Amino acid sequence: APDTRAVRGEILYFTGEPAALGDAAIAHFPDGLLLVRGGRIDAVGPAAELLPRLPSGAPLHDYRGKLILPGFIDTHIHYAQVDVIASPGEQLLNWLQKYTFPAEARFADPQHAAAAADFFCGELLRNGTTTALAFATVHPGSADALFAAAHRRRMRMITGKVLMDRHCPPGLCDTGTTGEAESRALIERWHGRDRLLYAVTPRFPATSSAEQMRAAGRLFAEHPGLYLQSHLAENRQEVAWIARVHPEARSYLDVFSRFGQLGPRSVFAHCIWIDDEDRERMAGTGAAISFCPTSNLFLGSGLFDLERARAHGVRIGIGTDVGAGTSFSMLQTLGEAYKVLQLQGQALGAAQAFYLATLGGARSLYLDGRIGSLAPGCEADFVVLDPAATPLVARRIAGCATLAERLFVFMTLGDDRAVLATHVLGEPAWRR
Ligand code: GUN
Ligand code: FE
Repeated sequence: APDTRAVRGEILYFTGEPAALGDAAIAHFPDGLLLVRGGRIDAVGPAAELLPRLPSGAPLHDYRGKLILPGFIDTHIHYAQVDVIASPGEQLLNWLQKYTFPAEARFADPQHAAAAADFFCGELLRNGTTTALAFATVHPGSADALFAAAHRRRMRMITGKVLMDRHCPPGLCDTGTTGEAESRALIERWHGRDRLLYAVTPRFPATSSAEQMRAAGRLFAEHPGLYLQSHLAENRQEVAWIARVHPEARSYLDVFSRFGQLGPRSVFAHCIWIDDEDRERMAGTGAAISFCPTSNLFLGSGLFDLERARAHGVRIGIGTDVGAGTSFSMLQTLGEAYKVLQLQGQALGAAQAFYLATLGGARSLYLDGRIGSLAPGCEADFVVLDPAATPLVARRIAGCATLAERLFVFMTLGDDRAVLATHVLGEPAWRR
C-alpha cells in the first residue's frame, strides 16, 4: 500500500488513567514500531515483531533513541492572543481591558488574522501539539482564518467565533442576533469538515447578555457533536462580578446550566473558585475542565484543585491558555501544573501529567479512540521527544533509572527544544 509508513523508536501511550507508572494503563515499547496506513495507526508493537510486516519500499522514520508519544492536546488556548503573551502588571479584568481587547480588535483585518493563524499553527506543531480547542475573536473571519490554517496542515482543530455583546469595546462587540447568525454560518462551513469541529464560544457571562447566552445554549443543542467553550471561576473579582449580574444563579457554573450550556463537550477553562456541588454537576453532566497552570500563575488567579476535581470524577484536560498562559509548550505547562499542585500538597506524577496531556485531554473532548493514543485505529498524530534536547536534559536523563523519571525530567526541564519532530496523520509536519 503506497500510503503505508513505519515509525521506529521508544513508543509510549496510555490506555487508561494511570495511578502510577508500571500500570496496565500504559503501553510501552522500548524498541517499538508504529505502522501507519491512511493516516491511522494500523499496528503498534515491538519492532522485531512488526518489521517483517512492513511492505517493501514503505518509508521508515527512524527515531531510535527518541521517545514517541501521542500528539499533545491543548484544551484551552486563544490564537489571537499571541501578541499579548508577557504583558505585565495586571490581573484578569484589567489585563483584558488593557492588553487583550486591543490585540483582539486587530483581527477585524482578515490579513492580520490569516498571518496570525499561520504563526499559531506553526507554534503548536513546533511544540508537539496536534489538537487544540481554541478561541478565535468576535470576528467571524478570525474563525475562518484559523480553520483554514489548520485545514492546510490537516490538524485537528476545534474553534469558534467569540460571542460577546456587552461590556466590551465597540469594535469588539456583536449582538445577540448577529452572533448567532454568524456562528450558524461558520458551523455550516466548517463543523465536521475533515478534522475540524466547531465550538460555540461565549467568552464568559460578563460579556454576553442573557439574550446571547440563550442563543449560545440554542446553538449548542442544535447540531450533534458541537462543542461549547468558555471561562469559569478564574479570578475572585470576576466571580463576584458574575454573581452580581446573575443573582438568580446558585454559582458561576449554574449560570451556564441555566442557559443550556452544560453537558458533554462543554469545556470550561480554569474552574478555580468552584465548590463540590459544582464539581458534582460537572461530573454528572459530562462537562470538562481545562486546567491552565501557567495562566493561573501569571495572572495570579489562584490554584486549581486537581485532586478534588478528580475525586468527583470530572473530566480534565490541560490548557496553555496562551496569551494569559506563558508558553505553547505542553511540557512546560505540565511542569507548572506540578508546581501549582505542590503548593497545595498534591503530587502530580509524571504518568498522570502526560496522561492529562494526551488521553485525558482526548477523553475530556470525547475524542478518545481517535486522538490522544497510538492504539490501532487512532489517528496517527504523534510527537517525538529528544532526550538529548539540551545538555542539561541529556545529563539528567542519563541519570534516570525508570521511564517515569525520564518523563519527569521532560516535564520539568523540557520545552520546545525537546520536540524533535511532530507528525500529523503519520506525516512529518514539523522537524527540528
Ligand atoms: N475570561 C474572559 N476572557 C478571558 C481571556 O481572554 N483570557 C482569560 N484567561 N480569561 C478570560
Ligand atoms: Fe482563556
